[in-house]
Amino acid sequence: MKKLNCGVVGVGRVGMMHIKNLLNIPSINILGVSDLFIENVEDELNMLGIEHCYKDYQELLCNEELEALFIFSSTDSHEKIAIDAAKAKKHIFCEKPLSMDTNEESSLKVLRAVKENNVKMQIAFNRRVDRQFRKIYQDVRDGKIGDPQIIKITSRDPDLLPHELIKRIGGLLFDFTMHDFDMARYMAGSNIKEVYARGNTLIDPTLKDINDIDTLAIVLEFENGSFGLIDNSRRAVYGYDQRVEVFGSKGMLKAENVSDSTVELYGEQSLEMENPLPIFMERYHQAYDTEVRLFVEAILNNQPLVATGMDVIMAQRVAVAAQKSIATGKPVAVDTTYPKI
Ligand SMILES: NC(=O)c1ccc[n+]([C@@H]2O[C@H](COP(=O)([O-])OP(=O)(O)OC[C@H]3O[C@@H](n4cnc5c(N)ncnc54)[C@H](O)[C@@H]3O)[C@@H](O)[C@H]2O)c1
Repeated sequence: MKKLNCGVVGVGRVGMMHIKNLLNIPSINILGVSDLFIENVEDELNMLGIEHCYKDYQELLCNEELEALFIFSSTDSHEKIAIDAAKAKKHIFCEKPLSMDTNEESSLKVLRAVKENNVKMQIAFNRRVDRQFRKIYQDVRDGKIGDPQIIKITSRDPDLLPHELIKRIGGLLFDFTMHDFDMARYMAGSNIKEVYARGNTLIDPTLKDINDIDTLAIVLEFENGSFGLIDNSRRAVYGYDQRVEVFGSKGMLKAENVSDSTVELYGEQSLEMENPLPIFMERYHQAYDTEVRLFVEAILNNQPLVATGMDVIMAQRVAVAAQKSIATGKPVAVDTTYPKI
């Protein structure tokens, strides 16, 4: 079997989870791993069988056998690492977003480097390949609910993140809602042309000190005239709450939360069911595995990428517009024209 020689940059919450998945994929060969604080994770990586651990990701890029780089580092580092990887002619799998910069130019530089160096780049919009959401997507495409009119997304984290982590990976809009903007656009099959967002700190007022919020309500309008509704919270006391509904001219498709068990207890006074899975690593375990397998397929067998650089640009634009909408209290138009690369 042909294997793809890969390197990994960033071994935090997401990186370590992905590395454990990657090691179970027969078509992936991990040549080495890099993290700014590699000394904190080196023993664990060695125990997993990874011998080559570096502080500087350039050590990975100068390996001529390396074909692809997984970028799981904090968001503030994505742009530079992705450009360096493209220049070194390595294919790229990058966590979202490419940048938290309100100026799109920095992300466009990545897309240009990818194009100029003729490499592929997949963005980690894992929810696109979640089994439930993928089925909704396919059923919408197959016309099972007619024309989609309203897309409703509930996306709530189980608890607050540390402020230091938020500074590295972005606040609610750039770290979390980014996925929902992509999912809404993906389901609608249409670009978002306007966003009206209201946000507040209903859980942790100190988030204001770092310019973040913990609760969001959003109305979207798509180019094709349909609408989207997104609600976000950083703390759902019952677990990780991830639901999607698409309502159309001939019916509705709906994916409820995923639990560890489908057993329900019917008592005299009440009905009990299992809480949703507690956190993203468990809820999207299958999707994290599938997105990476499809990335390898895209490179080895020239198959389509799950999500591209242009997809993340379009989601980032909505995040920037939503930020402006929260600040002004008004709906904000989003540019739907694709930038020239
Ligand atoms: N797809 C998803 O479901 C999902 C979920 C959570 C987070 N994320 C994204 O994953 C990324 C990482 O998030 P996290 O929560 O794991 O953050 P984290 O802070 O836990 O981990 C990031 C790691 O990157 C390392 N790093 C930073 N700059 C580096 C550099 N230049 N070279 C090498 N290593 C570097 C840090 O030392 C740290 O260990 C973020 O972009 C975040 O938005 C995605």
